[in-house]
Amino acid sequence: MKAKLQVGVLGFGTVGSGVIRILKEHQEKISQVTGYDITVKKVLVRDLEKNRRYEAEGFTLTTEPKDVLDDPEIAVIVEVMGSITTAHHYILHALKAGKSVVTANKDLIAIHGDELVAVAQENHCDLFYEASVAGGIPILRTIVNSLAADRIKKVLGIVNGTTNYMLTQMTASNKSYEEALQEAQDLGFAEADPTSDVDGIDAARKMVILTRLAFGMNVNLDDVKTKGIRGISQKDIAIASQLGYRVKLVGQAEEIDNTVDVAVGPVLLPKAHPLSGVSDENNAVFVTGAAVGETMFYGPGAGEMPTATSVVSDLITVAKNTKLGTIGNVFNRFVHETKYTPAEKVFSKYYFRMQMNDKTGTFLKLTKIFADAGVSFDKILQEPNDKHTATVVIISHAASRNQIDEAVRGVNAEPEMRLITQYAVVEG
Ligand code: NAP
Ligand code: HSE
Repeated sequence: MKAKLQVGVLGFGTVGSGVIRILKEHQEKISQVTGYDITVKKVLVRDLEKNRRYEAEGFTLTTEPKDVLDDPEIAVIVEVMGSITTAHHYILHALKAGKSVVTANKDLIAIHGDELVAVAQENHCDLFYEASVAGGIPILRTIVNSLAADRIKKVLGIVNGTTNYMLTQMTASNKSYEEALQEAQDLGFAEADPTSDVDGIDAARKMVILTRLAFGMNVNLDDVKTKGIRGISQKDIAIASQLGYRVKLVGQAEEIDNTVDVAVGPVLLPKAHPLSGVSDENNAVFVTGAAVGETMFYGPGAGEMPTATSVVSDLITVAKNTKLGTIGNVFNRFVHETKYTPAEKVFSKYYFRMQMNDKTGTFLKLTKIFADAGVSFDKILQEPNDKHTATVVIISHAASRNQIDEAVRGVNAEPEMRLITQYAVVEG
């Protein structure tokens, strides 16, 4: 008979249900791989009466956190309940009690990751969070282990399943923003409050974690330039398509001369770019290394079973470490001084959609504004709206963020022009 490794799970929602199901269905293999019978002893929920996806068989459901956190037989806590303050409190409690922790909570890890890693070390516990970025894709261990030899230059990520699902449905099936969001919620991809998905905050948190692992730099969430997909219209999607691009919500982290710039926002991706083919709730992380060149890691970024696979793989690592007596080794040791790239050194092409008065000389003024800012045009499109106004679309050549801001200030100061959308364009 194998030794038991008893687990306490905080949360029995989408991810918690998947964890319980995988541990049950793949019990034999997990036991062979780890040398332990990993069993769930207790599960924390808010509401005991709620209908659950699966029966609570073989474990106790409780609404009392201490039942789980202070149970001496429970060696590992799996936190899949979400939130920042409460989860932070419970995880600290567990680590200080000498229990290893596995979490899928990117909100928490992006903000308190450093502190929790230090507390885990002080208490000789493991702390893993593979599921916090890109759901079922094992991207964190890939960066920490498989790409450890390389110097990572750039990470581009479609790291939010909800918005990728919505944009795919809006593009391919002409669904409205509201219809697409409702579907993503029904399918279990969206956060409890989907604002963090659609406003790009969830993706920004994941980019903070990716930046920490890829570049060793601890960027503040507030320093990630973040824009969501609210306000994206079928018109931008259609124009982008006409010009050979798809609109996607992409996180970008780039190392430039030992500094880093991190941004999240809707971008135009050339249709031939590998990230353009990433559809629905799938995620992908496109990593450029100085030695390896371009690599892409692709898979389901949200949902019950993919996310639970990553959670259980962390649990398996804890079990293996327990067997080998190597518990408490920090997940990522790469640390580099955090320095931000100044705006004049961050270059990109941009897409602008404007409404302009359709009268002689307006385009000349526009050209002058862009020329004065040092931004040149790559592609131009003009369509009449009515007798007096036209839609003008510009794709610029690469320019610095400062130059683009100057051009935008110029457009905004001109009563004959109205800037409607402005997105970065990724070069293929
Ligand atoms: P969910 O479906 O809303 O489930 C949350 C569970 O936690 C519920 O069972 C809830 O209990 C319980 N819970 C919440 N607050 C609690 C509290 N204060 N005390 C006791 N129990 C509490 O959430 P989820 O989608 O599984 O997400 C869980 C975590 O995984 C989040 O951090 C999320 O960001 C992360 N994540 C989710 C996905 C995904 O695809 N869903 C992917 C990657 C990461 P009741 O059921 O009684 O209400
Ligand atoms: N709400 C998140 C998403 C879940 O849509 O990607 C996975 O982290």
